[in-house]
Amino acid sequence: MPMPLHIERDRLLSDIEKLASFSDDDPPGTSRLVFAGADQNARAWLKSLWRDAGLAVREDAVGNMFARWLGTRPELAAIGTGSHIDAIPHSGKFDGTVGVLGGLEAIRALQQSGFQPQRSIELLLFTAEEPTRFGLGCLGSRMLGGSLNSAADANLKDSEGRTLAELRAAAGFHGSLDEVRLPDGYYAGFVELHIEQGPLLEREKSAVGIVTSIAAPAALRISVEGEGGHAGGVLMPDRKDAFCAAAEIVLAIEQRALATGSVDTCATVGKCHVYPGAVNSIPSRVEMEADIRDTDEERRNQVLREIGEACQRVAAKRNVQVKITPINADAPAACSPHIVEAMVQAADESGLGYKKMVSRAYHDSLFMARIAPVGMVFIPCRGGVSHRPDEYSAPQEIEDGAKVLACTLAKLSLLES
Ligand code: GLV
Ligand code: MN
Ligand code: MN
Repeated sequence: MPMPLHIERDRLLSDIEKLASFSDDDPPGTSRLVFAGADQNARAWLKSLWRDAGLAVREDAVGNMFARWLGTRPELAAIGTGSHIDAIPHSGKFDGTVGVLGGLEAIRALQQSGFQPQRSIELLLFTAEEPTRFGLGCLGSRMLGGSLNSAADANLKDSEGRTLAELRAAAGFHGSLDEVRLPDGYYAGFVELHIEQGPLLEREKSAVGIVTSIAAPAALRISVEGEGGHAGGVLMPDRKDAFCAAAEIVLAIEQRALATGSVDTCATVGKCHVYPGAVNSIPSRVEMEADIRDTDEERRNQVLREIGEACQRVAAKRNVQVKITPINADAPAACSPHIVEAMVQAADESGLGYKKMVSRAYHDSLFMARIAPVGMVFIPCRGGVSHRPDEYSAPQEIEDGAKVLACTLAKLSLLES
């Protein structure tokens, strides 16, 4: 480990505050919709920080951004680190940003220690880790890892019907999406620093989490088509209320996830639009999105099948049409043993306790794992709270995470193979 390795905590914290000021929401809420004004301004500010640190900056066609610290052996595959800065509506300031700014601080600390990497170290900002705009999470990393092709340009649209092609061009990202995929062997390793988004590290008083695997996410769009009408005029026995059917489906989804008996199965219906949306009008149509995850892919797939069956039962019973459109059903990812080992050594050498753990949240690392060995360092967040304005990690926790990341990057950048 390079000595002395000093994380400038105040600089890192003030960078996190500054990034939070680029927001579509009023504080304490944070929201950054990919390619919208706050995201664009945040990207411009980050690029200036990266250039100030002497990093070579480039962008790809989907807006992934890269900042490279050249190693003494630039011909070797690089070591990557980074995360995302987009933030879901009314969320916090640490999700993703700790990995982007902590990655920068790790590089700055290594530079100031006099350390010379052999492999180049590259910091990434991934486009649209959150599904908010395009309905699909990890857009940038999916493309880098070859899990999404250029058909996304026309197929992915925002709620106003604007395509990915239009939106990325308007944001200044040009060129063919076919060129986004990274060649095999581009990275010799990728390590992401992130807040845990769960309660275990805090509960067990571990300074850092060392992730061994990332759970398999899936999402479904569910449309329920019933029959609208007057809320007083249509008699109750004659109704085909789409929202009542949707309510039964939502409960069935919860029930199918609970029925596996494992805390690792999670199901959430976090989006629901009722049409026409008037108090005195019977809902004619409902559009929902469900998020289903598990550490065990086969068990997750079984839950998906059971949800399909439940939808058909509700459709028959209530005489409505139910259509399920899969959005994604991704495989889980295992972290690489040698990266896990490097993270363990980094925590030990930093004098920090660690816990090996599974990530139930998904991350860009899930898709980077398709093309590179990956690892993730987690830090605690208060009460396990995330995706809320009161998301919080303490200064010491952030500093510890950046230190373990820096030390891990240093080790990996010196590894020959
Ligand atoms: C990522 O934001 C997730 O929903 O796991
Ligand atoms: Mn998130
Ligand atoms: Mn995140």
